[in-house]
Amino acid sequence: MHINLTGPLKGQTHVPGDKSMTHRAVIFSSIAAGRSIIEGALLGEDCMSTINIFRQLGVTIEISGNTVTVDSPGFKQFTEPSQVLDTGNSGTTTRLLAGLLTGLPFRTVLSGDASIGRRPMKRVIAPLKEMNAQISGSYHDTRTPLIIEPADITGIHYAMPVASAQVKSAILLAGLHAAGDVTIIEKTASRNHTETMLPLYGVELETGETIKLPARGIEHLKPFDFKVPGDISSAAFLMVAALITPGSAVTLHRVGVNPTRDGIIEVIKLMGGDISVIDQTDEGEPVAMIEVRYTPDLKPVTLEGDLIPRLIDEVPIIALLMTQANGTSVIRDAEELKVKETNRIDTVVSELNRLGFNLSATPDGMEIAPGREQVTTRVDSHGDHRIGMMLAVATLITGEVEIADFDSINVSFPGFMKQFEQLGVKE
Ligand code: S3P
Repeated sequence: MHINLTGPLKGQTHVPGDKSMTHRAVIFSSIAAGRSIIEGALLGEDCMSTINIFRQLGVTIEISGNTVTVDSPGFKQFTEPSQVLDTGNSGTTTRLLAGLLTGLPFRTVLSGDASIGRRPMKRVIAPLKEMNAQISGSYHDTRTPLIIEPADITGIHYAMPVASAQVKSAILLAGLHAAGDVTIIEKTASRNHTETMLPLYGVELETGETIKLPARGIEHLKPFDFKVPGDISSAAFLMVAALITPGSAVTLHRVGVNPTRDGIIEVIKLMGGDISVIDQTDEGEPVAMIEVRYTPDLKPVTLEGDLIPRLIDEVPIIALLMTQANGTSVIRDAEELKVKETNRIDTVVSELNRLGFNLSATPDGMEIAPGREQVTTRVDSHGDHRIGMMLAVATLITGEVEIADFDSINVSFPGFMKQFEQLGVKE
């Protein structure tokens, strides 16, 4: 697809609902018997995978605009699916449901697209097996398809080897079935939406560095009407577009600013970017209004350590922002990028370098130097939504490019182009 965005970006908008929270709202609403309404849901392809799987399990889910109405008979009445449960491109669907399905009284099979087939599953299979789950994966329990047989799930005391909210949440969702205590120790915090949202649906748990779930928590889940905050990971593309495009000033309403997700705001501030976060309120999850203005003369920065999980999905668009700094920026401690929808160290570096930017890959991240000498105008999302959107934002600097597999953006941000148009961007 030919993309050629031209700025400035001006005005205000609401970004689409948060992907991580929409998945969780659908999961918790489906477990609880009764009607739950999810407002402001994200209906991108990933969340639709989760919705369609619960439909296959016998939950009635209606969609009208961005409102999702879940009428569930409750998890005890889930019916055995006659087909493989298709998780599409969604790592969150695959891993979170791997946890939940372990305690159901029938067999299920989870499988997704080619990208899901390459992503590591041992990280969920291993702790779930420790909980007595009867789960197996292809290639010696390392990959999908995942086959899950009924089992009596036991408690676990688990120290997380990687900062991963998907692994943590898989354990918590299996743990909802457990007769014993589930304790998870997290040295580096990962996004905590499972912990913030479970109490809204009736399950109280201890949180912090040690997370403790009560036994048989699944019995306590009750319906809840959740209003999904805007996705900071989608807002990130608009924020960076405004920062790098002369004359831009945008206001984004009701963006989720959970402290486990707001690393990009910290980075923009460290780089000297003109950003304000105002009117913060607590709606179960913190939300705020974000104002961003064009900023010349951005400073280079080094990102590492505990900051990385707080911005892991924003690295592609942060890397583009860093190309506009007046010195070399460094991202390290980010090996996890290699196991996302694509190897994002490789895809970010290779695609931005094709557009003439100056990036080099390192074993655990990348270095981003200023300057640009365009090589080609043909780039590729490699089927990765965040790479596709980052490349579209790059056209504000480069002019027209041809992005192969641009449709992949529908995974998380189907209205991406419309949202830019709303802010006055011309195509
Ligand atoms: C997510 C967790 C993160 C993130 C993904 C969504 C979630 O993955 O990258 O986009 O909703 O739990 P990891 O758990 O693999 O870090």
